[in-house]
Amino acid sequence: MTVSDDSDPTAPELESESELAFEGALRPRSLAEFVGQAKVRGQLQLLLTAAKMQDRTADHILLAGPPGLGKTTLAMIVAHESGRPLRLSSGPAIQHAGDLAALLSSLTPGEVLFIDEIHRMARSAEEMLYLAMEDFRIDIMVGKGAGATSIPLDLAPFTLVGATTRSGLLPNPLRDRFGFTAHLEFYDEAELTQVLQRAAVMLDFDIDRAALAEIAGRCRGTPRIANRLLRRVRDFALVRGGAADIEAVRGALELYDVDPLGLDRLDRAVLHAILERFGGGPVGLNTLAVSVGEEAETIESVVEPFLVRIGLLSRTPRGRVATPSAWRHFGIDHPQQVGSQQPSLMDDL
Ligand SMILES: Nc1ncnc2c1ncn2[C@@H]1O[C@H](COP(=O)(O)OP(=O)(O)OP(=O)(O)O)[C@@H](O)[C@H]1O
Ligand SMILES: [Mg+2]
Repeated sequence: MTVSDDSDPTAPELESESELAFEGALRPRSLAEFVGQAKVRGQLQLLLTAAKMQDRTADHILLAGPPGLGKTTLAMIVAHESGRPLRLSSGPAIQHAGDLAALLSSLTPGEVLFIDEIHRMARSAEEMLYLAMEDFRIDIMVGKGAGATSIPLDLAPFTLVGATTRSGLLPNPLRDRFGFTAHLEFYDEAELTQVLQRAAVMLDFDIDRAALAEIAGRCRGTPRIANRLLRRVRDFALVRGGAADIEAVRGALELYDVDPLGLDRLDRAVLHAILERFGGGPVGLNTLAVSVGEEAETIESVVEPFLVRIGLLSRTPRGRVATPSAWRHFGIDHPQQVGSQQPSLMDDL
C-alpha cells in the first residue's frame, strides 16, 4: 500500500511550484504579522532589538519543530526585521566542507545565513561550522596527506539561522553554539483561524467564519496545512458553485480524505497498522515504517509529533503504543485488555 500520493493536500512532500508560490505569497513578513508562538516571538523580538541597539549581528538562532509550523518564515522575518540580506541554503546542499567554505567566505558583513534541514549537513562541514559560528573564522585545508596545510581565513560576521525537524540529531557541540533555540509548537484552533482569516483576505476569498473554524480544527495544528485546505475548499466552492460555508468545508475535506480530527491518510495508515497488525503495540519505529511503506524519518518527524500531541499515540522505551483514544477513534475493540499500558515518561519527547 502506498500512502503518499500527489492528490493528498496534507502530504508533506507535496511541493509543486504553484504550491510553493502560494506559500511564498502568504508568508508573514514581520514578527507582528506572524500569528501565534507568542513566547518564541517575544524571545526573538528581544534578541533582535538588543542586537540592533548595539549595532552588532544577532546571535545564532536554531528553529526546531515539525514541518509547516513557520521555521522558514521566521528565518526570513529575522533577516527582514534586522534589515540584513538573507542567504538561503540547506543541509543536503552542503555535502562537503568545501561547499560550506565557499558559502561562508562569500557572505557580506552582517548577512543572515539560513541553513534549512541543518541536521542533514555533512559531518566535515559541521566541524567547520563550529569554528565559523564561534570565531567567524575557518581553516581551509589545502592538499592531501603529509603535504596538507591549513590556511586560516577570517569571515565577515554573520547570523546563522538553522532550521531542523529533528533537533535530536544535531550533535551537542553544534546545538550549544546557537545563542537561542526556538521550539515551535503546534498551533491552537483560535490561532489557526487567525492564520486562515489572513490568508482568505489575501486570496480575496469570501468564506464564512464557521467554515474557517472547521478548517482550523482539521489541519493538524499546522498553518501550512490550514492554507492548503483553504485552497481546496476554495476549489470546491468554485467548482460546485455553492457558498464557501461549513458544508463546502466538509465536502472538500471528505473528498480529500481528511478525517474529523484532521488525520490524513498517512496518520491513519500508521494508527491502523499499530492497531490491527500489532495489536495496539508496542511496535518499533522501523517495523512500523516498513509496514506502511514510508521512511522511518517521515513517521518520526511528520506523523508522530501530532499523534502524540492529540493523545492517540505514546512513545515508550519498548516502542510505539496506541492509546485507548486511538482504539475509540477507529471504533475498534481491544482484542485483549491492553489498558494496563502505562503512559511512559518519554511521551513528551
Ligand atoms: N505563524 C504563522 N502565521 C501565519 N502563517 C504562517 C505561520 N507559520 C507558518 N505560516 C504559513 O505556513 C506556511 C509554511 O510555513 P514554513 O514554510 O515557514 O514552515 P516550515 O516550518 O519551514 O516547514 P518545513 O519544516 O517543511 O520547511 C508559510 O507559507 C506560511 O504561509
Ligand atoms: Mg521550511
